[in-house]
Amino acid sequence: MLRDLTQTAEISFDEIKQQREYMNLVKSVVEARYDHVPLAMVHTFGCQGNVADSERLKGQLAAMGFDFTDDAQQADFVLYNTCAVREHAQDRVFGNVGALKPIKEANPNLIIALCGCMMQQEHVWQKIKKSYPFVKLVFGTHAIHRLPEMLYRVLSTGKRVFEVANSDGTIAEGLPVRRDGSFKGWLPIMYGCNNFCSYCIVPYVRGRERSRRSEAVLAEARELIASGCKEITLLGQNVNSYGKGSGEMDFASLLRAVNALPGDFKIRFMTSHPKDCTPALLDAMAECEKVCHHLHLPFQSGNDRVLKAMNRGYTRAKYLSLVDYARRVMPDISLTSDVIVGFPGETYEEFCDTLSLIETVGFTSLFTFIYSPRVGTKAAGLPDPVSREEKGRWFKELTDCQEQIAAARSQAMLGTVQTVLCEEVKDGRVNGRTDGNIMIDFAGEESLIGTYVRVRITKARNWLLSGELAE
Ligand code: SAH
Ligand code: SF4
Ligand code: F3S
Repeated sequence: MLRDLTQTAEISFDEIKQQREYMNLVKSVVEARYDHVPLAMVHTFGCQGNVADSERLKGQLAAMGFDFTDDAQQADFVLYNTCAVREHAQDRVFGNVGALKPIKEANPNLIIALCGCMMQQEHVWQKIKKSYPFVKLVFGTHAIHRLPEMLYRVLSTGKRVFEVANSDGTIAEGLPVRRDGSFKGWLPIMYGCNNFCSYCIVPYVRGRERSRRSEAVLAEARELIASGCKEITLLGQNVNSYGKGSGEMDFASLLRAVNALPGDFKIRFMTSHPKDCTPALLDAMAECEKVCHHLHLPFQSGNDRVLKAMNRGYTRAKYLSLVDYARRVMPDISLTSDVIVGFPGETYEEFCDTLSLIETVGFTSLFTFIYSPRVGTKAAGLPDPVSREEKGRWFKELTDCQEQIAAARSQAMLGTVQTVLCEEVKDGRVNGRTDGNIMIDFAGEESLIGTYVRVRITKARNWLLSGELAE
């Protein structure tokens, strides 16, 4: 069936085929260039969306004859997939890139490349161009599927390549994927973001919101299940708006469709935006037996004036009513969230509304961030009179408060039996996660990794639980 590709923003089959030809070219160049199997080190900063992108970058590298290492000293090709969401994230990348300089000096054949969200900002790639001459290849989030062509240009000309043009965004299907884990799978269902929360850089570096075709999502889910994957996480900046504007099914329907696939696996998703979270979605969650009862629903602030200034599109009351509904249909639901402390102009009284919201809801855990100004966003132009030290005190107050809440919630779980996906073994203790995404450890063996077991909780500290096999 022919599709209108202008609507789905899907890269044409011909273009993907052309990249496959470049893959073969790179493969023959690297075979001639190295007397060993070339090694790539791909390091990922940022969110799961970036992790999923890196799995596609690694898939392409594997198809071009590369094997992989975690050690830059051993590598022939180093690729950092970067994150721009906060200053701290960016500083870490610059620090890591600086540290590669002596490694490059010791190994002049090493090719250093940077990609991802940071590279989609002009002031960043200009800085790399000027101050980091040993970086050979730079590309943004819109060029991931063109790695073979870009790498071929670097290899065949020896010149620096910068592919950083901004774009509304496209979807590349049919890329090879090399997954990091065998029993946990990341499955992107949409890319980009249209929300323009006033503090956030993501819509600028990731382009407009676009959804993958449901057939493509379901095909990848089937592949994951067939390969033994036990937990599929559906990914997007705002999964609740899946399908909007593309004539596709909505997110609740997609969830039901993935749930209906045969197999022994569970489903998670992130991130949900409260603006688009509906009772229909929460009903779908409750009714789908494979969907974990964990909802990551970032609220950012508990104060209506601040929420408005953040351009979040919901109020405190709307958020709390969603939480009420979720608990009504799933009494065991585990709620987690993101919060920003010290948004420009936020007062201490307004911050106290955030504190009271976390007390009211009782989250399992929180990701807390001090506001970080991002070049080009609306909030970066707002007066920001509160000092960093003061924000630091508010931050501490918030994390102390959450610690107590989390400890009480963990205590309440003592004696209960939870389903746990076993992830790794260290010193005879298995580390895993409950359906509610709470970390737990218990005595067990390597053979349990990648399986679900029932664990009785015997000890609770903060958000960390310990237990014993229940059967
Ligand atoms: N799309 C997701 C969030 C993606 S970014 C959502 O809307 O929920 C992850 C988190 O980083 C955000 O939820 C927010 O809490 C934080 N964040 C984003 N920009 C930030 C900034 N400029 N300063 C501090 N925290 C920020
Ligand atoms: Fe950023 Fe808001 Fe989009 Fe999330 S929804 S990625 S916070 S703009
Ligand atoms: Fe960072 Fe880009 Fe994700 S800015 S949080 S890696 S979308």
